[in-house]
Amino acid sequence: MEDNKVIEIKNVAVYQGRNLVLSHVNIDIRKGEFIYLIGKTGSGKSSLIKMLYADIPVKEGSIVIAGMELKGVKEKQIPFMRRRIGIIFQDFQLLYDRNVNENLIFVMKATGWKDKTKMESKCKELLSLVNLSNSGLKMPHELSGGEQQRVAIARALINDPEVILADEPTGNLDPDTSKEIVLLLKELTNKGCSVVMATHDFMLFNNFPARIIKCENGEIIDSSVAVNLA
Ligand SMILES: Nc1ncnc2c1ncn2[C@@H]1O[C@H](COP(=O)(O)OP(=O)(O)O)[C@@H](O)[C@H]1O
Ligand SMILES: [Mg+2]
Repeated sequence: MEDNKVIEIKNVAVYQGRNLVLSHVNIDIRKGEFIYLIGKTGSGKSSLIKMLYADIPVKEGSIVIAGMELKGVKEKQIPFMRRRIGIIFQDFQLLYDRNVNENLIFVMKATGWKDKTKMESKCKELLSLVNLSNSGLKMPHELSGGEQQRVAIARALINDPEVILADEPTGNLDPDTSKEIVLLLKELTNKGCSVVMATHDFMLFNNFPARIIKCENGEIIDSSVAVNLA
């Protein structure tokens, strides 16, 4: 694979159980690219994202992400592969029984971190990156939705992932907060991280244009390919 390609999807069919959701999926994503994945509810955005983090197995075609072939990937390899990918959801999925630092440290420990000083300094670094330097000791319920999503972004960045997969990360947020989240995600691409963000929020992709991949009628329409054809 060319080394500036972070995701290579070739002739993939996306299934949910026995149902074919998307067919003939061919997408290349480069290092540092920001991509909106759009389409109506039920069009297959979440299913495609799930395939990218090996929650739905690749049966037809192939997917290489962050240097790993997902077809035939063994169950025990999946956690290692997921360390190279950051995942963000609409509902934040924080642990509500512990503070922000403890949320981050929980994931660090689960992914093999041991040195307490390193974990503490990584917490500081990540919280400063998402503009939450003073919130490490707060409980998630003391934070606004936008702040909780920024904690989720910090958590996704713990192991310096090559790719961030964000499934409707602004779905629970007001328009101004949504803009902040998109700007923060876009900033990550300056450091070489690729971001795939599923959304159906027109306001965002009109205000902050980027490559658009659309799920429609069981297939993919890629703005970068369409532009090349024009
Ligand atoms: N866990 C599941 N089991 C079976 N079918 C599902 C499941 N999740 C989603 N689907 C179906 O797969 C299709 C695509 O859904 P999804 O990927 O969630 O779309 P989107 O994220 O664009 O709203 C829909 O027809 C949906 O009903
Ligand atoms: Mg979805």
